[in-house]
Order: sequence, then structure tokens, then C-alpha cells
Amino acid sequence: MDYLRSDLKDLIPYKASNIEYDIILDSNESPFDIPDSTKERLIEYISIGNIFNRYPDPNSTALREAIAHYCGVKPNNILVAAGSDELIRMIINAFVDKYEYVLCPSPSFSMYNIYTKICGGIPLDIQLRKDYSYDMDKFISADRQYNAKVAFICNPNNPTGTVIEKQDIIYLIKNFDGLVVIDEAYFEFYGETMVDSVLDYENVIILRTFSKAFGAAGLRIGYLVANEDLVEDLYIIKSPYNVNTFSQLTALELLKNFDIIRERIDYIVSERDRLYHILNDVEGIEVVPSKANFLLLQLKDSQEIYAKLLEEGISVRNFPDDTDLSSCIRVSIGTRYENDRFLKVLLSKLERR
Ligand SMILES: Cc1ncc(COP(=O)(O)O)c(C=O)c1O
Repeated sequence: MDYLRSDLKDLIPYKASNIEYDIILDSNESPFDIPDSTKERLIEYISIGNIFNRYPDPNSTALREAIAHYCGVKPNNILVAAGSDELIRMIINAFVDKYEYVLCPSPSFSMYNIYTKICGGIPLDIQLRKDYSYDMDKFISADRQYNAKVAFICNPNNPTGTVIEKQDIIYLIKNFDGLVVIDEAYFEFYGETMVDSVLDYENVIILRTFSKAFGAAGLRIGYLVANEDLVEDLYIIKSPYNVNTFSQLTALELLKNFDIIRERIDYIVSERDRLYHILNDVEGIEVVPSKANFLLLQLKDSQEIYAKLLEEGISVRNFPDDTDLSSCIRVSIGTRYENDRFLKVLLSKLERR
């Protein structure tokens, strides 16, 4: 008997490979674990007791206060969830009716499209320009035609690392009738934000995460910034205990120790720029200028190079089924040692061609 909803039958389940590679540069994580001082604080918390037997604070009160301070807004403008992944699903669940349209940039983060389908909406791919810039008029004309409920934009964009100018975002916000969700998962590597716009416009939601710059992907913590009415609406569909106590405490400690995180961000940004300049001089590789913690490389024989890197214990991201990106690989920025290992294998393979 097949119990699965018929509209989900063409979706492929997300199953991460369980092969362990020496160097993991495939998911845009931080190469750094959380700081030792944070780990020590967590051990102290655990030893006080009553951490694991009690339900977590459903409102993540202390963490929301700290995030509000970090973002320059009020705690009531913040909603915390188990990763920004969960927030993407919550936004669609709360605001998109069955068969309503959601505008999803392409190429961009695939979960906008997948969660729209799971939630019963209809994703509409809005193609980026050849240089991976956003054409906001395409979003607006799709809205006029399909009356879309939500538009996702990703800044810096994953998997290209390219950014969207502020005035282009404002243009979309002002001309789009639905909600504009600005995914700033890689904000800390870029430095520009649209957080202020949540107070100026009622149709804006900003998504952020602790999975990238903060090095806490394993703890699953993301948050959104929006006006209080939107946050209240989202509470209607929020699972009460979606963010566990341990994750709340860790995120709070990471914000308290932001100076350490800042140093790591600076390190990754300088490694990104170093790698960019080296690769930019290599014949046969097109590197997309990036403001995130990864680089998208376009190269001949990308699948062969991907396989060679795996053979050498280095995993990067490939896109074999994506017509826009089938000749690309995306490499996350790791430690200098990891980046040099990646470079060595890549360059030796290219020389041998
Ligand atoms: C653009 C973008 N948004 C959201 C996410 C999901 O992050 P989280 O770990 O917070 O669920 C990712 C993860 O790669 C991402 O690249």
C-alpha cells in the first residue's frame, strides 16, 4: 500500500551521504567548532542540573533578547527555530494557501522550492541573469501574472555567493504585494543587511542562522526578524518546544563571545579572497565573485574533478542534475590547510588535462 500524498511522489528525499571525508567543504559550514570557552560554559550549565529533564523555554526568551540586541531590534521582532530551514517551512505553512504561488530564485537555495511543494503551494522559478544577478522586474511581472504570496530572495545568494544591491531589494519590497523573505544566512561574511527594513515595511522577513558564521550547524538554530504582527502569526503554527535547551544556551553563549566569532569570520573572509585571487588567475576556471563563505567555480570536466577530489578525501558540492550549474562545483571556505589541499588537488588535475 502506498500511503504517500500523490503530490509528493516526485520529490527525492534528502539523504546525506554517510561516507566520511578528510576535508568537508560541501555544506558551507564553519571549519571551526564552537569556542572552548563556550564549551566550558555549557559543561557548567549541565552540571547545575535540570537541563535535560525539563522542556525548553518555548519562547527562547533570553536568546531572543540577545539576538534582538545583536540585530538592533526588539525581542518581539524575533522568532527562533530549529535552523532557518524550519523557518522557511513555517513561513510557507503560515502564509501560503494550497495552490498559491511562491517565487523562488534560480539558481538559489533549493529548500524554498521543496518546502513550497511540501506545504501544497506552487513554486515558480525566477531565473537569475547570466551573471547571477537578480532581475527584480521578473519577480514583479511574475507577481502580476500569478499573484504570488511570498517571494524568497537570498543575499548573498547560495550557491553563487553573489549579492543584491539594497536599492533593488527596496524596489522589490515596494512593488511586490506579498511577503518578501530575505535569506541572510551568510550575512556575517558580507556585512550588509536589510534588518532595518522590517520596521519600515510590513511585508519583510529576514532569515538568519547560527549554522554558518557561528559554527553551530549541528545545534540547529536559526531566527527571523520581522514586524511583531508577522511574528505573532508565526507563533500560531510554531511547535512549542522546537528549539532545545542546549541549543538556546549555546547560541546565547556564542553571542556573548562574538569577538571570537568575529575573528573567525575575518579569517574565513580573508581565505575566501585569497582563494578567489589564486583561482581567478587559473586558465579554464571561472570563479564567481563571492561575499559568502564559499566560491562557485565553473570549469570543464567538473564531474571528473569532483570525483577526483572525493578520491583524495575532499568533498565539495556538485550539481549534476541542475542544467544551470552542471559544469560548476561549489567549495566552502575551510582552514588554510584545507583550502591548500583543495587547491593542490584541483590544480594538479587541471594541469594533467
Ligand atoms: C541560503 C540558506 N538558507 C538557509 C539555510 C539553512 O540553514 P540552517 O542550518 O539554519 O537550517 C542554508 C543552508 O545551507 C542556506 O544556504
